[in-house]
Amino acid sequence: MQVSAWLLWVGWLCTWTEAAHQCQCQCACPPEEQLAQRSERSEGRGHLRHRLTHQRASHRDRAHRRKGSRPVSESGLPRIIHHPSDVVVRVGSPATLSCRAEGNPKPTIQWLRNGQPLDTEKMDAHSQPVVLPEGSLFFFSVVLGRKSQSHEAVYACVARNSAGVATSRNASLHIAALREEFRVQPSDVEVADGEVAVMNCSPPVGYPEPNVAWRKDGILIDSSNEHYTELNGKLIIAPAQKNDSGVYSCIASNTVGVRESRAARLSISGETLSLLLKIMNNLIKHGDSYI
Ligand SMILES: *[C@@H]1O[C@H](CO)[C@@H](O)[C@H](O)[C@H]1NC(C)=O
Ligand SMILES: *[C@@H]1O[C@H](CO)[C@@H](O)[C@H](O)[C@H]1NC(C)=O
Repeated sequence: MQVSAWLLWVGWLCTWTEAAHQCQCQCACPPEEQLAQRSERSEGRGHLRHRLTHQRASHRDRAHRRKGSRPVSESGLPRIIHHPSDVVVRVGSPATLSCRAEGNPKPTIQWLRNGQPLDTEKMDAHSQPVVLPEGSLFFFSVVLGRKSQSHEAVYACVARNSAGVATSRNASLHIAALREEFRVQPSDVEVADGEVAVMNCSPPVGYPEPNVAWRKDGILIDSSNEHYTELNGKLIIAPAQKNDSGVYSCIASNTVGVRESRAARLSISGETLSLLLKIMNNLIKHGDSYI
């Protein structure tokens, strides 16, 4: 009885001292390893990291020895750790194509443009892209020039050191654009009531490919309305009714901007024409009785 009471008291003391003094009592202490790490941490993180890399390296060495060993230099091969990705930029804007590589010794980075080494010497001084210290390619101001000068191309980075070479994925640099002129402007259309009306339009050349919408008498047409179908820029109205007559314009837009076509008139040659046709039919059918 006495002993268990004493143990209980020691247990309580331990918990109390742990809380109060971050544990100096053996019964609640973390294992030795943790303690060692804690003291190391207080020595500074750099030291710890250093020790850890040492440990990792020696693990690797042991693994290699077991496997019959790869040469040490192979682990120094360049490796692309950040590949460039496709970009779409407006003329005059800056652009960056990322590239980062590791290896031992530290690899140097060169860029390819359409598969050929990028020769910045050949380009106009003001439009020359620069290779940043960590390897990315930076354009101060993107230009759309003649073939050899244009920044619009497919790029890849090449990391090279004494151990070998690594090439990144291809990344394209596209220049966002939207021309002024519509490829096809809508023109005036006249159809009979109940027929299918087609308003033509082909948006200006652009990148990304422009979206097309339509306006009737200045109001945007709801493309979810089944009365209308948009097909390659064209607006199809089926069946065209009297109240479809009006002024239509084609709206092209992408990230660069918005262009509006000329306005074209749709006329529904409704009742007068069909009335005329009916009268003529009647005349033909009953013609003999009139004569
Ligand atoms: C990258 O682009 C270049 C130039 O267009 C081409 O020659 C090469 O085959 C491409 N590489 C890959 C991996 O697609
Ligand atoms: C035209 O009239 C019909 C009913 O006759 C109606 O359902 C339709 O919404 C009208 N269309 C327009 C563009 O006003």
